[in-house]
Amino acid sequence: MTDNLFQTVTLNETITLQNRILMAPLTRSMADEKLVPTQAMAVYYARRAEAGLIISEAVIIRPDAQGYPNTPGLFTPAQINGWKVVTDAVHQAGGKIFAQLWHTGRVAHSHFFDQSGSTQVLAPSAVGVEGSVPRMRELTYQVPKAISHDEIIQLIADYSQAAANAIDAGFDGVEIHGANGYLIDQFLHYDSNRRTDEYGQTAENMARFPLAVVDAITARIGSDRTALRVSPGAYFNMNGDSKDRAVFDYLLAKLEERDLAFLHIGIFDDAMEFDYLGGRVSSYIRSVYSKTLVGVGSYSPETGSKAIAEDKFDLLAIGRPFIANPDYVTRVREGKELVEYSAEMLASLL
Ligand code: FNR
Repeated sequence: MTDNLFQTVTLNETITLQNRILMAPLTRSMADEKLVPTQAMAVYYARRAEAGLIISEAVIIRPDAQGYPNTPGLFTPAQINGWKVVTDAVHQAGGKIFAQLWHTGRVAHSHFFDQSGSTQVLAPSAVGVEGSVPRMRELTYQVPKAISHDEIIQLIADYSQAAANAIDAGFDGVEIHGANGYLIDQFLHYDSNRRTDEYGQTAENMARFPLAVVDAITARIGSDRTALRVSPGAYFNMNGDSKDRAVFDYLLAKLEERDLAFLHIGIFDDAMEFDYLGGRVSSYIRSVYSKTLVGVGSYSPETGSKAIAEDKFDLLAIGRPFIANPDYVTRVREGKELVEYSAEMLASLL
């Protein structure tokens, strides 16, 4: 019934996956105080190496990218060396792993910026979000500074360097985190992008920074090793606007011209519908983007397999059930019952 999940797939004739099940990126806040991955993280990821591809938890590209405690980085030699232990462990267990590259933009907090000397939260525009840092509720979100032209150029260079660092650290590729209301997504929605320069106001302008990051990274490490996650449906740290649709229509048409390893949907529940997208995010993206698409969001093995059979997407990413079931792939293949996920499981790496 779920046989199609166990087919091998080759992405752009370069990277062969042993099955169609991806481990979705899952922030676990388990890096040490210098944001270096720990030995426990190597064990955690290696236990899940049966996935066709692991996408790492989001990894910050530089100090002012950080918005949550103990999220790992990829900008110091110690962090790169820490990741080498993780990628070696995954490879030895027969798996493959991409690093998810992250800048939280206006969801960052200057509390975390100590190492850089920078004190200001950067975002496309000086429009803050309500709320506070999870697990550190005393840190309320700050009104960001609208990022300058020179800072944009530097950020693109820093994304590209983080991608090169990921390859040095032994990752098989990178997924650019363009989803879930973080920096790249902030450029793509009218709620957070009020710029009047060449990065705002029109679809072409609003897609300029995201595409520049994609192009800088593909030039550095190759399009076959570069993927992107996007959230056309504003559902997290973001308010939707009917005009957002045109921005994504433009962006996805431009991405169609690039041979990315895959495009990955960012959503918690793919049953959610968005008026301005004409329904589900997966249906919308499939209608305007023809290349390899990764679906996600509250899928079971059966509903995910059915969605692939119906050509709604090509690969299935699994998040919370992979926390609860390190041997998710074996359990599904053998028809064994899955352990149900609960939020308490986030307290430790299993
Ligand atoms: C997430 N998700 C997420 N997404 C992302 O792009 N980068 C990340 O670091 C995280 N971190 C994260 C942590 C935790 C604890 C959860 C529950 C989720 C979203 C995740 O990748 C996925 O899209 C959702 O969990 C929906 O898939 P499932 O869990 O329904 O299979």
